[in-house]
Amino acid sequence: MISETDVRIPSISCQKTVCVADTMAVMSTSDYQPVETPEWLALQSLAESSAKDSILDYFKNDPGRADDYSIEFGSLYLDYSKNRIDDQVLTTLLNLLEKSPFLEQRTSLFTGNNINPTENRPALHTALRNTDCEIVIDNIQIAPIIKQQQEVMATCSNAIRSGSYTGSTDKPMTDVINIGIGGSDLGPRLVCEALAEYRDSKINLHFISNVDGAVISTLLNRLNPETSLFIVCSKTFTTEETLLNARAAASWLSEKLALPQPEKSAHFIAITADRERAIEYGIAPENILEFEEWVGGRYSLWSSIGLSICIAVGFEKFKQLLAGANAMDEHFKTAPPDKNMPVLLALIGIWYNNFLSAQSIAVIPYCERLGSLPAYLQQLDMESNGKSATLNNTRSRVTTGPIVWGKTGTNGQHAVFQLLHQGTRLVPVDFIATLKENVGTKQQHRVLLTNMIAQSAALMTGEFNEDVHKNYSGNNPSNTILLDELTPYSLGMLIALYEHKVFVQGVIWNINSFDQWGVELGKRLTATLLDESSSESLDASTTELLRRANDI
Ligand code: F6P
Repeated sequence: MISETDVRIPSISCQKTVCVADTMAVMSTSDYQPVETPEWLALQSLAESSAKDSILDYFKNDPGRADDYSIEFGSLYLDYSKNRIDDQVLTTLLNLLEKSPFLEQRTSLFTGNNINPTENRPALHTALRNTDCEIVIDNIQIAPIIKQQQEVMATCSNAIRSGSYTGSTDKPMTDVINIGIGGSDLGPRLVCEALAEYRDSKINLHFISNVDGAVISTLLNRLNPETSLFIVCSKTFTTEETLLNARAAASWLSEKLALPQPEKSAHFIAITADRERAIEYGIAPENILEFEEWVGGRYSLWSSIGLSICIAVGFEKFKQLLAGANAMDEHFKTAPPDKNMPVLLALIGIWYNNFLSAQSIAVIPYCERLGSLPAYLQQLDMESNGKSATLNNTRSRVTTGPIVWGKTGTNGQHAVFQLLHQGTRLVPVDFIATLKENVGTKQQHRVLLTNMIAQSAALMTGEFNEDVHKNYSGNNPSNTILLDELTPYSLGMLIALYEHKVFVQGVIWNINSFDQWGVELGKRLTATLLDESSSESLDASTTELLRRANDI
């Protein structure tokens, strides 16, 4: 059992913030309809008139294009010159941005206005990386709350890393298992994998998300219960998959260690915005880390949800991650739109999505440690902008968020690139790589980078062949993002870059990028179908599938 001297997590005494809409400025987008702006019409006619333009010709006609269509900021370099975009298109896109409520919404994002009106709250992930912010929500300064939560993360992760945090048999933890799904999994998972080189603790980290029992059972078979720490991450503490996985871990602990209430032991930590629910679930109050309602699930890696990151690389590196994201926030807030990385990425995306009929975008990191980036960006983009309701409470008249997919290079070259080179669809690509690499040999890294550069060139240039099977029509667009090195700081910048890109697109489409009502119906129906006493009338297909599933 846990003795008095055990290191436990200091509880947070700060008053919780409660977001009450009528105490804040509610976003007003008035009657803004992107499709009704003259710029939208202008872009439609530009799409027609430039349909036959070739990117290669843009280069031939403008010797300065590579310079003009690139930005360097901090650790990142963005080359957006290999796009089907010329000055006129870019200027018109920038004018479209000006007609949108971008400036007000960006201010609202950073100042804590109610930018998420359908959930009645601000979205303040940027405040988590700026503890000097002076934002007041409901008469309470939020910076002290953030600082205090970060202190708890530091104390807790240091204790786990040093071995002073012990389990029920007084042994230090060797394995930390992050149980969470969606934003409570994808962010910390991405960062822990990406920063593998910076891991300086012997603790093994595992991520469990799917309710598929095969995942947790396989892991439990390999773990030592005496030295296993389960971190249950759930903003709402109601997510079925997470709670079931946590129960499976608790039963295993109780069986192996004869613990009467494993959830209350030192083997369980909860991270949540709903402390009461975590207590109700059985977690010891002193083992609960909190974060605030105004942190959206898919933006939560910057909050206490980042505990597993701190355990992997230490709290100081976590702070560097936050600092990188904060640098990108400052750039996004202050750089003029035509020199603003997230803005430009967003506008380029709008061009393909709304005017050149692209249905998806591919994210191809030439960096195996960024292998989880496509999955992370899928949630960020598709859960944020996969919407058809506008902020004016009407149905959107324009196409909104694209399908995001991707795979690391060079692996993708041997699997999905066929479609990019010769398929019938337009798929803009984001290539991402790091320049300096400390892992592997120089030669390996040179081959990796050269492959990426060759692919972006081949996609654009194409190659004529009279044999249609061997013809590459080219003119396939891409952005290339180069990180000077994969560090906590540059990774923070990269993730924040995409967060703001997605935000800008949501503003132009006039949708709320911060809610996710679309996931609710499926959750509710699952609950109904699991309830054997439910008399829900179902279609014949669902009835038959359910009968078969229940027969096993
Ligand atoms: O179902 C979608 C979602 O709400 C995501 O937005 C969120 O990241 C995920 O589920 C997990 O939610 P929670 O952290 O509350 O368990």
